[in-house]
Amino acid sequence: MQEKINQYTAEINSFQPKDAAELETFRIRFLGTKGIIKDLFEEFKTVTPEEKRVLGKVLNEFKQNAEAKYQALKESSETAEGNSTSDADLTLPGEGYELGARHPLSLVRKEIIEIFKKLGFNVAEGPEIEDDWHNFSALNFPEEHPARDMQDTFFIKKGGEKGDIALRTHTSSVQVRMMEAGKPPFRAIMPGRVYRNEAISARAHCFFHQVEGLYIDENVSFADLKQTLFYFVQELYGEGTKVRFRPSYFPFTEPSAEMDISCTICKGEGCQLCKHSGWVEILGCGMVDPNVLENCNIDSKKYTGYAFGMGIERITNLKYQIKDLRLFSENDVRFLKQFKSEMI
Ligand code: PHE
Repeated sequence: MQEKINQYTAEINSFQPKDAAELETFRIRFLGTKGIIKDLFEEFKTVTPEEKRVLGKVLNEFKQNAEAKYQALKESSETAEGNSTSDADLTLPGEGYELGARHPLSLVRKEIIEIFKKLGFNVAEGPEIEDDWHNFSALNFPEEHPARDMQDTFFIKKGGEKGDIALRTHTSSVQVRMMEAGKPPFRAIMPGRVYRNEAISARAHCFFHQVEGLYIDENVSFADLKQTLFYFVQELYGEGTKVRFRPSYFPFTEPSAEMDISCTICKGEGCQLCKHSGWVEILGCGMVDPNVLENCNIDSKKYTGYAFGMGIERITNLKYQIKDLRLFSENDVRFLKQFKSEMI
């Protein structure tokens, strides 16, 4: 037995594997459950007690030696694998990084901003958590008035010094902040995220994005509003897109209107999107109610103005024919990737 152990020791000491497979063969041969060491321990049981005294120590040392050799070889082969450059082909083309894509809503928001910039509109922003005054009261929503139910609100805190605190339901709140903080004339658009307590479906979500606009100066009329929005639509959807205004109601504008455009898909012929009417609604607008101007310390005898507000999701759907609103917030790369060519 001593003889055999000597032989194996020599074999182990001189062993140099060429690859991981050879090292694995080595492990199975010596350290495996049916390996040499296991056999030797079996054999050890059969030797005389005198021999046992000597061989016990030898056998244990042999086992430790084999295990240590295996561990050392394994570690050195792992680090070598990590560092190895010897067989890497440096002439192969690189793998390259995948480029991200802009979110379709960001693309359209940018496009809307660019169009209004050409008309001299600034961009204004405000907080998403608003108090009652900026979201409702200053905008001529009387307390306890059903008009407040037009927009199902997520309240954060009821009551309090500045009234209820809520997630803003529209970016009209930014208009109030702007008017309070400055002096007319004002000409700005307010892009931003807004929240409404709606059940999530293909057609509604509990948050969406808006761009609202405000223009206050002396002698601003409804004709200015119509012309501005007409220009906007021609720029965004192409020349020849028709617009029409329908009377509507908003507490903060008087008169108020909703604006439709000729369906971008069927060009007015009638399709599923426009429910065969040839028209789709894209925004609400009107002349700023004098009460709102007064609430913001603006002389309503001297100044008039218009306001409008649209949902970016709506505008985007009409551009890209996206049928399910939920796609915008699911962040499925298969959806987002499709807008890659539209990088700006
Ligand atoms: N704030 C309105 C909304 O969120 C949109 C709007 C803005 C309507 C300005 C008229 C004037 O629905």
